[in-house]
Order: sequence, then structure tokens, then C-alpha cells
Amino acid sequence: MNYIKSDIQNRVGILTIDRPDALNAMNPDVLRELSQSLNNMILNEDVGVIVLTGAGEKAFIAGADIKLMQQLDLDGAQDFGKLGQDLTLTIENSPKPVIAAINGFALGGGCEISLACHIRFASENAMFSQPEVKLGLIPGWGGTQRLSRIVGKGIAMELIIGGQMINAEEANRIGLVNKVFPLDQLLNETIKFANLILQNGPNSVAKSLECINFSSGNTLKDGLNLEVETFTQLFDTEETSEGLTAFVEKRKPNFR
Ligand code: CAA
Repeated sequence: MNYIKSDIQNRVGILTIDRPDALNAMNPDVLRELSQSLNNMILNEDVGVIVLTGAGEKAFIAGADIKLMQQLDLDGAQDFGKLGQDLTLTIENSPKPVIAAINGFALGGGCEISLACHIRFASENAMFSQPEVKLGLIPGWGGTQRLSRIVGKGIAMELIIGGQMINAEEANRIGLVNKVFPLDQLLNETIKFANLILQNGPNSVAKSLECINFSSGNTLKDGLNLEVETFTQLFDTEETSEGLTAFVEKRKPNFR
């Protein structure tokens, strides 16, 4: 089986979940393949930014595979939950920015995978929900934890216990997605933003992600300590020296 398509375009790694007959729903094989492909991109020196999207024009990811979940016993459910959570942690902790290009339904586990991405861009036809309560479930791949960190506790409560779908415009209004584009422009616009990131110092981008991620679940004092420690250590790197020197010499920095 080959559920993930990998492509590299000028240092932008594009991972496409390709299971359109099930609206890109995630079973364990898809989860494992995506984790593997993501780790390959993280290790690949030719890749600076990773884009995650779905095949077709209808779905990003329509969630965890419901037909599979119907068969799960307790051990199977725990394994499936952990597999999905491990994937979201790999995305979130990636030193290279991961941008979700959400090209349609982002439901349940699909919405949760997008929540772990550092940035979310959506097409105008994208639809979002955490519909697990309609199935007698709760979000199992981080939704109860990450959604409130992104949109606030009150809206997360409304979306998770209501289970209702919202469109891209509403998702943008509540801060669930960063930007919305027409479907035929989504990937190009996402790659354009990836190219903007690629002009910046890769180490300072990675350290920014690390410090921002640390701000969830830690005290302001601990976060400020990490920030000043990281800021200080950068002064011992060639990248920082090059960035500062280039500004003074009125030229573009050469980070790579
Ligand atoms: N799992 C398995 N198969 C799925 C699926 C899913 N999450 N979502 C869609 N499919 C399958 C459908 O069963 C259908 O397959 P068949 O033709 O073999 O029946 C195919 O994809 C096309 O779907 P529809 O015919 O339903 O397409 P539609 O346009 O009428 O509806 C939809 C689209 C509104 C997205 C609808 O498919 C739907 O509601 N899907 C389920 C979404 C959902 O509840 N996701 C959350 C899952 S729970 C979860 O993710 C738990 C967690 O936190 C980890």
C-alpha cells in the first residue's frame, strides 16, 4: 500500500495523504506511512519546510477510519489513539515548520492533525469539526488539548461538545486557520509562504518553534528563561553572525 505521496519542490517538502476513496481517512497503515514520510522529510537536508495536504478536491482528512474503529477492542483503541498522538507530536516537535494546506474536510482526527501543524492555510471549501461526540467518542489525537490552546477554551468547548461543522470563513474568524484561499490557489499560496520562511535562518526558525511550543503548559517564568537562554546561545552560531553582519553590510544574508 502506498498512501502518502512525497514530493520536493525547491526545498519545500510536500506530503499528500492519498486515500481519496475514503476521503483520506486515517487507518493505522496511513498513520504509520505518514509518520515515516514525515521523519524522512525532517532528516532530508534538501527540505526546509514541510507542507501537508490531502489528495483530491474534497478532503484534507475526514478523520480516523470509522469502519476500522468499529472493530477495535480496548487494546486496539489504545494503540490507535497512541499512534495518532505520536504522529501529532512528531509534527508539532518538528524543527522544520509544518504547514497544513487544508483542501476540504478536516474532521475529527483530520482537524487534530492540522492542529499539530505550525500553520494552517485552508481552501474556501474547507470544513472543520470535531464530530467525535456524534459517534459516542471524544477526540483522541490531541483535540481536547490543542484546540483550546489555539481558539480558546470557550470555543473549544462549543466545538467539541456540539460536534457541529464550521466553514473556512468561520474557522478563520475564530483563529483556527491562519488564511483562506480559493482551492485552486491554496497549494501555490502555501508554497509561497514556505518560500518566505526559507529566506530566514533555519536554526532561528527551529528555535522559535521550540520556544513557542514550550509556552503551552509551562509557566511564563520558565518560558522566559528558555527564551533568554536560547537567545543567548544563538550568539555563538554562524547563522546569527551572518544575519547580523549581512544587515550591517546592507546585503542579503547567506544562511545556507
Ligand atoms: N472513516 C472511514 N471512511 C470514511 C470516513 C471515515 N472517517 N469518512 C468518509 N469515509 C468514506 C465513506 O464511508 C465513503 O465510503 P463508501 O463509499 O465505501 O461508503 C467515502 O468515504 C465517501 O464518503 P461519503 O459517501 O460519506 O461522502 P459525503 O460527501 O456524502 O460525506 C462526509 C462526506 C461529511 C465527510 C462524511 O463522509 C462523514 O461524515 N465522514 C465521517 C467524518 C467523521 O465523523 N470523522 C471523525 C471520525 S472520529 C475521529 O477522527 C476520532 C479521533 O479523534 C481520532
